[in-house]
Amino acid sequence: MSEFLQGMKRTRMCGELRLENASEVVTVMGWVQRRRNLGSLIFVDLRDRTGIVQVVFDETTEKSLFEKAAAIRSEYVLAVSGTVRERESKTNKIATGDIEILADTLKILSEADTTPFEITDDTNVNENLRLKYRYLDLRRPSLQQKLITRSKIAVATRNYLAENGFLEIETPYLGKSTPEGARDYLVPSRIKEGCFYALPQSPQLYKQLLMIAGYDRYFQIAKCFRDEDLRANRQPEFTQIDLEMSFVEDETDVMYPVEGLIKRIFKDSIGMELPEGHFRTMTWQEAMDRFGSDKPDTRFGLELKNVSDIFVGSDFKVFADCVTEGKSVRAINAKGFASKLSRKDLDGLSEVAKTFGAKGLAWLSKTGTEVRSSFNKFLTEEIIAKLTERMDLQDGDVLLFAADKDTVVFNTLGGIRLYLGDKYNLYDRQSYDILWIVDFPMFEYSEEEGRYVAMHHPFTAPKDEDLYLLDSDPTKMRAKAYDIVINGQEAGGGSIRIHSRELQKKIFNVLSFTDEDIERKFGFFVNAFNYGTPPHGGLALGLDRFTMLLTGTDSIKDVIAFPKVQNASCLMSEAPSTVDKKQLDELYLTVSDKN
Ligand code: AMO
Ligand code: AMP
Repeated sequence: MSEFLQGMKRTRMCGELRLENASEVVTVMGWVQRRRNLGSLIFVDLRDRTGIVQVVFDETTEKSLFEKAAAIRSEYVLAVSGTVRERESKTNKIATGDIEILADTLKILSEADTTPFEITDDTNVNENLRLKYRYLDLRRPSLQQKLITRSKIAVATRNYLAENGFLEIETPYLGKSTPEGARDYLVPSRIKEGCFYALPQSPQLYKQLLMIAGYDRYFQIAKCFRDEDLRANRQPEFTQIDLEMSFVEDETDVMYPVEGLIKRIFKDSIGMELPEGHFRTMTWQEAMDRFGSDKPDTRFGLELKNVSDIFVGSDFKVFADCVTEGKSVRAINAKGFASKLSRKDLDGLSEVAKTFGAKGLAWLSKTGTEVRSSFNKFLTEEIIAKLTERMDLQDGDVLLFAADKDTVVFNTLGGIRLYLGDKYNLYDRQSYDILWIVDFPMFEYSEEEGRYVAMHHPFTAPKDEDLYLLDSDPTKMRAKAYDIVINGQEAGGGSIRIHSRELQKKIFNVLSFTDEDIERKFGFFVNAFNYGTPPHGGLALGLDRFTMLLTGTDSIKDVIAFPKVQNASCLMSEAPSTVDKKQLDELYLTVSDKN
């Protein structure tokens, strides 16, 4: 007899037993959530990933069994056989609350030390401690449910894409460092002194090469690595549902199949049927103008309006000068907020605005007929009248203004909008708001690099109707790019790719790449286009973000089994760590002294 399960075979999972199973003889295995000793009765709550079941040891049954049960402690691993029976004191707190198992056999499969924290969902234990003992944290039912949902999303994805002619193909993790994007994670080569692999930021180049290679439709649930500063919804390694399709021309040729995939994911993972028909689309320009963001949360109002013209020639120099300098003044109407926002709150909001890069946040409120404002002395009847009309200013409203470069104004008012929406519960947190953002600009100017960079990536095709701008004003071109936005989060993005060599070269020129740069940086990729390239396009969904949205959590760590923290380290394994000198020598590396 093996010592592992000591001859017992599991017949049922803990969480699946119900009243109709009464009088069944069952064997369950799992961890002890809780043990209560009532003298003549010992109750044990046994937990596996399906839930909890109550097991009873009765003194009157068998003495040796009862004594063994008295030794049980929390988190011991047990195998228990017994008969299911109706419970006297039923509870609806757990799904098995109508029954219990009267034990007749008990094996203690593993003892457990006292855990550093109790394994329960209503815990306020410090997150770092939980991450250090992540394998214990992961025992908590709420985390298990999230990872179960994640698994369902992955399975739904595989099923849907396989049914629709996509092949699952893996691409390398050890690749070549290519520019354009976030910072690479590098892996030094032992064989080739001084050379490095880069971990992929996405399978982008490989999936396009697979289209050139004739694989027609590809997908992969791919790990991606980006050495960038972590934020709430970012991890240094994360997972994409990555796909690419050949013989597509318009954005909708990719967007529609992806809508099918998303609907299937919602249905198979959380049982939600999304409405029939296509998702909404909004142009990038409209999203910026109305919501100050390319990933707008359209579940609530507080939309932006351009009021620049109203301040032309005004005595309020801050605003008037902005307009003369080609910047803008925009505002949102916080409807009915006059009674909610005290002077102190408004000052606080101004500080919030500064965190978004603004120089200030001017305000104007109307209570009854009285108008008050942080720029009272510059207000004229005419300005008030125009603002009233443009902003639909009514009794009880507060207007909030930012004046600066468009990028700063959008960032500020977009941020303030989200801040107010969240703080004052302006939307239904249970609902899903899904839309496509399309017609992105091809390029954006990078102050840091002093040149134009691709807004999506350099292989993204321009809109056909904007091709005429290529020689005259390429920076005004829009791209065949699309993002899927869910509840104000960028859940995925993609584009139709360039498949003409000449066009690709011109785009590289706009990005200030010389021929030598192109050859050195991605020669292998560009050369492939010389041998017959189908029109193609694709997209990648962020699997982690998707799981966050579908499980209703704000923390990306909740949906990743072994996540990293803010400084990109793993508190459990303590990666990254120093290595032996021998390992460094083999890689021709020396680590300089910190001092
Ligand atoms: P993109 O860079 O937009 O596109 O990435 C696609 C999606 O991946 C998710 N994502 C992340 N999730 C967690 N942590 C991160 N650090 C992180 N970075 C990105 C987002 C994002 O929408 N190759 C292209 C896709 C294509 O053109 O086909 C790409 O990688 O949800
Ligand atoms: P001041 O004249 O500097 O006292 O500013 C008057 C009001 O305008 C204050 O509420 C400031 O927060 C606000 N303010 C100043 N600069 C800006 C700006 N660039 N955009 C929006 N509001 C501003």
